[in-house]
Amino acid sequence: MHIIHTIQELRRWRKQSGSVAFVPTMGNLHEGHLALVKQAKKEAEHIVVSIFVNRLQFGQGEDFDRYPRTLEEDAAKLRDCGVDILFAPNEAELYPHTSQQYQVEPPNLQNELCGAFRPGHFRGVATVVCKLFNIVQPDAACFGKKDYQQLAVIQGMVSDLNIPVKIVPVDTGRARDGLALSSRNQYLNADERAEAPRLYRVLNETVKAVRTGNRNYAELEQHAVQQLQQHGWTVDYVEIREAGSLNVARLGDKNLVVLAAARLGNTRLIDNIEFSA
Ligand code: PAF
Repeated sequence: MHIIHTIQELRRWRKQSGSVAFVPTMGNLHEGHLALVKQAKKEAEHIVVSIFVNRLQFGQGEDFDRYPRTLEEDAAKLRDCGVDILFAPNEAELYPHTSQQYQVEPPNLQNELCGAFRPGHFRGVATVVCKLFNIVQPDAACFGKKDYQQLAVIQGMVSDLNIPVKIVPVDTGRARDGLALSSRNQYLNADERAEAPRLYRVLNETVKAVRTGNRNYAELEQHAVQQLQQHGWTVDYVEIREAGSLNVARLGDKNLVVLAAARLGNTRLIDNIEFSA
């Protein structure tokens, strides 16, 4: 595996490479990321993984500074998985200008769900992913379904801006107790870690209620919020949406997704389940 830090070197490599599948990450890799790499291997001859903690997608007071940076351990894991290129640019390489920078402005979806609580987050994600796509020029790119709204924003971006990259969604990796794998899980103390799987359980109960005929989505969402609040969670939202568009779910929609974001202590967790009504 080659570790490349500059755009120029990456472009040089790309000119003579065959097809490429790409996995963009912010590092601190866990089994969920390695599942993306495994899927990427099925998509193309070469695998490129990027590690870049993207300041642009963190709001004020969020965890940009304490976000775990573990490049050496990450590189060892990627080497073991047979990755060809680890692209690890620094900030000056990716964002050489301090102001007047072009950004990718996603549509209204960026202000809903997580976007309502993290203003500018999806603009930051879309901008860095667009830049990385232009640099790596992959044939395919793998994204986890845990970040369901992120996946929708990226799918919309490549479609609307005619970016020739196949977006490959990959199922959420989970711990044995159901907790969705996330780099942020390591912020949880022992008590919070024991409580954390409730988020997935509550989403499963919501799915079950819809499947057994309850179509009062607002009531189900409210019930899920209360379940979490009773156990010490601060809930940003629990919402049932149409899975393809992420529009508010209407009676008659068949493909649904229930999404949630909630905090345990200082740690914000997200999760979702796709299902058919
Ligand atoms: O999902 C992530 O880790 C990040 O949002 C991404 C896609 C690497 C962009 O910084």
